Amino acid sequence: MRNTALILISAIIIPALVADKGKNYAKENVCQELRTIGIDKFREMVTVLYSQKFPYGTFEEVNCVADEMTKLAEKCCKDDASPDCYDKGATEISEKSCGKDSPFPKHPDIEQCCTLQGPERKLCLASLRYTSDELPSLLEPTNEEICTQHREHGNGYAVRYVYEFARRHRSIPAGFVLNATQYHVRMAERCCHPAIKNTCFLQEKLQQSSFKIFLRFLSNNCNNQVNLKSYRSGLSAYYGNLLGVSFEEASTLSSHFQSGLEKCCLQPQPACIMEELASFQKVLCNESKLEAMSKEFQRCCRKSPLDSLTCVDDLKRQPHHFKDLTNPLSSQLCKEAQPHGLDRYLFLIGVRHASISLPVMTTVLDRIKNTVTVCCSAADVTACLTEKESKLKKTTALLSKIDDTCLQYFKLELAAFKTMMQREAQGERAKMRAQAWVELATSCCFQHSPAQLCQKMTEEVIKYDNDTGV
Ligand SMILES: *[C@@H]1O[C@H](CO)[C@@H](O)[C@H](O)[C@H]1NC(C)=O
Ligand SMILES: *[C@@H]1O[C@H](CO)[C@@H](O)[C@H](O)[C@H]1NC(C)=O
Repeated sequence: MRNTALILISAIIIPALVADKGKNYAKENVCQELRTIGIDKFREMVTVLYSQKFPYGTFEEVNCVADEMTKLAEKCCKDDASPDCYDKGATEISEKSCGKDSPFPKHPDIEQCCTLQGPERKLCLASLRYTSDELPSLLEPTNEEICTQHREHGNGYAVRYVYEFARRHRSIPAGFVLNATQYHVRMAERCCHPAIKNTCFLQEKLQQSSFKIFLRFLSNNCNNQVNLKSYRSGLSAYYGNLLGVSFEEASTLSSHFQSGLEKCCLQPQPACIMEELASFQKVLCNESKLEAMSKEFQRCCRKSPLDSLTCVDDLKRQPHHFKDLTNPLSSQLCKEAQPHGLDRYLFLIGVRHASISLPVMTTVLDRIKNTVTVCCSAADVTACLTEKESKLKKTTALLSKIDDTCLQYFKLELAAFKTMMQREAQGERAKMRAQAWVELATSCCFQHSPAQLCQKMTEEVIKYDNDTGV
């Protein structure tokens, strides 16, 4: 069931894998999944996958495509279905999605795909991915609202929750969305009838709280993994100032964690990521190293594996100034023989800053990495690096500025913070620049900041920084 997510949605989203391995492969996987989990769960799973794929589609549009896919599977997985039943149906659905009044969710780039024919069209549709900003997390509805909606929608309540939750958690295994839905619907069923019982809600919410915290942690990390370039570099710096460990240890941790995310975040079944996180926790909370760690860290490690990860995630980070970056711009950075040259450089820069969220940190480190990498393929590496030195210094200085700004943001009231940021802004451009900084701080200083949005906002601030020569 490894690639079910990709294969399930093969009509609109047929992946390269399916094209490689042939039509029957897609069908067999879909049918096997259907037999394993049954038609109701299958439908829910398909709804999650499409809501994640099309977070800006309406409930009706997402439901419509999920319906068609479920019907197709139901019809073509029967023992007496004709061998080309599935493939023909899938082609019909992909044609329908290119139609003028398609009832399916619309992707902004769908037109391009629809000019193609046959398998190419399906492949193109498959590769469409939303790059738009994350939707904000679901606001916790009040108990009254939950009960009103539950009464109003009856059996349809669960599927609406699936849609809302999935489109706001695009990068986690679909199974977790179903778990969250199950808990939520159970709460509504128990606590709304015959009258609203607030103590019941309280109890249920208490029971769910550790799962909720875990999901927030997972969603945040998976979202970073899916959307950020150079995420591993950002993570190394993060572990460096969270745990005060060396580059080597931080790299081991970040590689382990990141490769687990890479392997499992987009898998529909939760088992993969659960296994990876449990194994990561063993490395993180390694007995033989525990003694050297802080009391708080040790306390976290005594909890259950998942709780200890979220507990560690909440620990306060500290800036670390390892030995100075004496001659950072030597051509050593590019040497193949020293594969960690550039990684170590990025780590030493990143680990100095403890108030910058991962999306922001990673975006800036990625900039630095690109600048250095370009030089590494230049004819005269040293000359190139020397030429880029001031640019690199400026980008590095930007990190300190973001760090300070976030510290101020956490310290001050919002109004006072805004006044401070705009104080010296003279002229139109300076005002816009100050505004970009305020937006970056208010949206992206928090540790669990949205990856895509904060990447964009960081780039915006870099742009102003480059223009004005500050
Ligand atoms: C999710 O739901 C499945 C099926 O009901 C259950 O076996 C599993 O333990 C749940 N996982 C979590 C993390 O609650
Ligand atoms: C714990 O650390 C020791 C010593 O560095 C190492 O040999 C061992 O493999 C580590 N265990 C885990 C689970 O990472």
